[in-house]
Amino acid sequence: MGLLTIDKTLHVGSEIKANVDTLLSGNEAQAIREILEQRGVIFFRGLEIDDKQQVAFAKTIGNTVDSEGEDGIYKISLDQGVNARAKYLQGSLFWHVDGSLQPYPNFAALLRAIKLSDIGGETEFCNTYAAYEALQNDEKNAIESLRVVHSAERSQYYVTPEMSYEELCFWQKSPTKSCPLVWTHRSGRKSLLVGATADYVEGYSVEESRALLAKLRDWCTQPQFVYRHEWQVGDLLIWSNTGTMHRALPYSVDSGRLMHRTILAGEEPLN
Ligand code: OGA
Ligand code: MN
Repeated sequence: MGLLTIDKTLHVGSEIKANVDTLLSGNEAQAIREILEQRGVIFFRGLEIDDKQQVAFAKTIGNTVDSEGEDGIYKISLDQGVNARAKYLQGSLFWHVDGSLQPYPNFAALLRAIKLSDIGGETEFCNTYAAYEALQNDEKNAIESLRVVHSAERSQYYVTPEMSYEELCFWQKSPTKSCPLVWTHRSGRKSLLVGATADYVEGYSVEESRALLAKLRDWCTQPQFVYRHEWQVGDLLIWSNTGTMHRALPYSVDSGRLMHRTILAGEEPLN
């Protein structure tokens, strides 16, 4: 075997040691996909790869989505001069799943640290399979068939709590999406789906709905389900976007923090 795996916590996050040639060969791609599904997050330290190698490695694991960014690399920065959607990216500071509003949320994403902030900027991930599995049976039964409407508007209240009417109308133009609260995957495994875009539980009162969504987010993000990645320049990290939520810890807009992201297309529908 060309991989050495070191688990970081009981439920989420593993460091993998392997050399670049092994990774690029694709020989371990299936093993990597399996570890990713089990552990939610995997990362490599000191690989010293460039953008082209990052994309080539990503292509061994899944189908890259090249519509964002250039040649498969999208720059994650809160600096408007680096990323025109920097304001929108401030939503990444709150627990979320990428592309929850899309029919096929991304399968996974690769993030490589190019420049770090002096303070903050760690990324946290929680394992939403493990969080679901740890619920009591009666709690599982109570939420089994609930559906949650997700909206871009909801997630923007985290970034801009007092949105103007014009801002609100802008975000309301994005279609909302009804998703199961418990996501049953092709494998048969189940995970919880909440996060910043989760607007309301269908059929619940406003209060009941807010309470349940907050309760389940708190449940998923308990320390035993969370891995916090303390970045080093050059780290390459991959998260399963179907079995985790993630957020960046606050860092300043002018810190220079820069990540290069490559996303892997969704493989199973969320409906
Ligand atoms: C993302 C994201 C977190 C980070 O790229 O989707 O949420 O730490 N990034 O930059
Ligand atoms: Mn994200």
